[in-house]
Amino acid sequence: MLQGGKGDRDSFSSKFGVLAALAGSAIGLGNIWRFPYVVGQNGGGAFLLVYILFIAAIGIPVMMSEFVIGRSAQLNPVGAFKKIAPGTKWHLVGMLGVVSVFIIFSFYTVVAGWTLEYVIQSVRWILFPEKFGFASMDNAALTQFFSNHYESFTSGLWRPIIWFFVMMLLTGYIVISGVKNGIEKVAKILMPIFLVILLILVTRSVTLGGGREGLVFLFKPDFTQIKEEPFRIILEALGQAFFSLSIGMGTLITYGSYIKKKENLASTAVSVVAADTFVAILAGIAIFPAVFAFGIDPADGPELVYKTLPVIFQNMAGGLIWAFMFFVLLCFAAVTSTISMLEVIVAYLSEQLNMSRKKATLLSMISVGFLGTLCTVSPDVFAIFNASPDLMLPLGGFFIVTFIGWIFSRDKSSKELSSDGTRNIGYHKLFMFLVKFVAPLAIAFLFALGVYSKVITLFPSIG
Ligand code: TRP
Repeated sequence: MLQGGKGDRDSFSSKFGVLAALAGSAIGLGNIWRFPYVVGQNGGGAFLLVYILFIAAIGIPVMMSEFVIGRSAQLNPVGAFKKIAPGTKWHLVGMLGVVSVFIIFSFYTVVAGWTLEYVIQSVRWILFPEKFGFASMDNAALTQFFSNHYESFTSGLWRPIIWFFVMMLLTGYIVISGVKNGIEKVAKILMPIFLVILLILVTRSVTLGGGREGLVFLFKPDFTQIKEEPFRIILEALGQAFFSLSIGMGTLITYGSYIKKKENLASTAVSVVAADTFVAILAGIAIFPAVFAFGIDPADGPELVYKTLPVIFQNMAGGLIWAFMFFVLLCFAAVTSTISMLEVIVAYLSEQLNMSRKKATLLSMISVGFLGTLCTVSPDVFAIFNASPDLMLPLGGFFIVTFIGWIFSRDKSSKELSSDGTRNIGYHKLFMFLVKFVAPLAIAFLFALGVYSKVITLFPSIG
């Protein structure tokens, strides 16, 4: 089938390929790096509970809505809205998505670059066990090492910029190779191996001794902290849910457009959400016991994982090998996410502006290269970009569910979800109820309160 861009439209080739690519997009630094530190900063178990509630009641409906939009239109987010809601302003939602991708993609790739530095450190550790790398670093040294990177450019380090560009090139290379031969292939190989290594790490962490306290922190809800700043924390849980599931900016509209008509969108969404949540919780189980066993502060922020993991490796037999494998795979888990971001821009440019895939990729990389460099040079830009998903993704998600709930006809969504009537969709009533009322109202309400509390903290006199 010929569409907007050039040549036949690519698609995922198998059910496993679809799941791997989607899980690859969802599972990434959001699970391993961001999830543990936001849980740590926002009170542990109670936050986890709120998070899981949002995942189920809002995350699944938003994800299914993105799939429905993408697969019924077979186009990128902007083109999709133009096709299914012609003559309206809805394509601006797609545009909002494309713009958000630029911001999120650029800071995300910077963090992915840090992972490469840790790969290199593991190699130095393997080659020169006593002299270099994590082996000889205590807690304070690890913190210092991390903050040198986080604030690198004030301290004159150039390596993070290099790592950022390496990650970008790797992402660009895979995306240029195409949906089936690039994205799907990489995800199918890497995601399963990644899971196995994570499980091994979890086993080590919980057997560290002193690990109990970490598990209590993660799983036992204690609402004191949420009571102090409920709106900020709840909005953060919502933002993390969207971020981790890759929803709210059209990534899954784009991937949805590559899913074949016969696949079951609902069960696909549920499996991806389940896998993503499972991996986030596994990451929590790997991190928190070690955090408590080694006296690290769970509220440390973005550095949490980067200083906890090396300590776990120091305490494992053959830790150096595990460290190397883990960081390499974390890097790949990050790449299966960055490709899903780049793919949004590339699909947009190639289908809407009629560029070749290659040209579209190069152009996106140049612009993101510029934004990402800004993030590495300025911790302030980084902090703003890193906080932006909390607002931008729920906003995008709000419009996406509202569109499916109120604008797109019920018949069309049932046709899409039932694969043209060949599938039983007993859940359709519940789905419509969620996308018409529950998800939009909840997002709007939490969004308004979250913005209000952010404004209050900035300008206390208003309150
Ligand atoms: N979900 C990915 C992670 O957790 C990041 C990601 C990929 C993403 N695509 C996205 C986040 C789209 C927001 C929107 O690492």
